[in-house]
Amino acid sequence: NGVLIDPFDAKAMGEAIDTVLADETAWADYARNGLAGVHENYSWTSHADRYVQSIEELKRRSRPAPRLIPQGRPRLLTVDRMIISDVDNTLTGSDEESLRRLFQRIEEARDHVAFAVATGRTIDSALEVLEQIGAPEPEVLITSVGSEIYYRRPSTPDRSWERQIDYAWEPAAIREAMAELPGLYPQKDIHQRRFKLSYDYDPKKAPNLWEIRRHLRQRGLRLRPILSFQAYLDLLPIRASSGLAIRFLMLKWGFAADHLLAVGDSGNDEDMLRGETLGVVVGNYSPELEPLRKRPRIYFAEGHHAEGVLEGIEHYDFMGQIKIPEEELA
Ligand code: GLC
Ligand code: MG
Repeated sequence: NGVLIDPFDAKAMGEAIDTVLADETAWADYARNGLAGVHENYSWTSHADRYVQSIEELKRRSRPAPRLIPQGRPRLLTVDRMIISDVDNTLTGSDEESLRRLFQRIEEARDHVAFAVATGRTIDSALEVLEQIGAPEPEVLITSVGSEIYYRRPSTPDRSWERQIDYAWEPAAIREAMAELPGLYPQKDIHQRRFKLSYDYDPKKAPNLWEIRRHLRQRGLRLRPILSFQAYLDLLPIRASSGLAIRFLMLKWGFAADHLLAVGDSGNDEDMLRGETLGVVVGNYSPELEPLRKRPRIYFAEGHHAEGVLEGIEHYDFMGQIKIPEEELA
């Protein structure tokens, strides 16, 4: 029903269009085959048949569901909401007094609000900085830009998250393809994780995100690039991101979307802010978050750092009744 071309080859595309327009017999063939193809593959009955077939297939392959409530960490099941805060420049950089007030607020609400962090840092480095700033112990840590999830008490990684995101992920081939690009320098080994490859990004020399994505796609590589501060580029599996990690937690632990509050300041928080959850952007945010102003359920606080987080909590009355202002529901 047509001519196959390389979508990145403009010349081939032009020639194919010429051929198709010029050859009347081929045109008629393509048109006839096109119609037949639609009937065969896209009619309501064939679509429904295929759907039923897939479900039958899944039914045959499925094993009994694993126990959803692992022993030793039922805490998440006793709370009905969760604050998920970025660390750097959202909590850090605050004045002592605001930070103390925020942490007190979180401690006081502990019986019904869980505290979680989502950060670009590794688990070790996140725990270290949280201790330095005197943060309450988080129930959950989403680390390395959403590619890892950990619970505390007892401290365990979420292995089912690892299994879920380990798809189409080819780190060696990605590294090779990235080495062909200018202005991108691998970060130190401690920042490289099983599901996160990180680069320092020189915006004057490096191609833009779109060009990077195209370069990788031409080599058959699929992944999720995330740029922060025009300075760091993280590459993750396509199924991983802070937003998807939160969605995973939401479904696994049974939270309602508007009972999760995500707070951040920069590009690597964008994905979790864009979700169906409630979002807060602190006053000292980085310009890459500007487009989020048009999104519903994202509150731009005036206050900076911890002060902005507190303002966001008040805005939604998150520890209390949870109210979403009418104009933000759209
Ligand atoms: C943190 C990580 C770094 C990452 C950056 C942006 O600084 O250490 O690897 O590139 O966040 O997500
Ligand atoms: Mg930050």
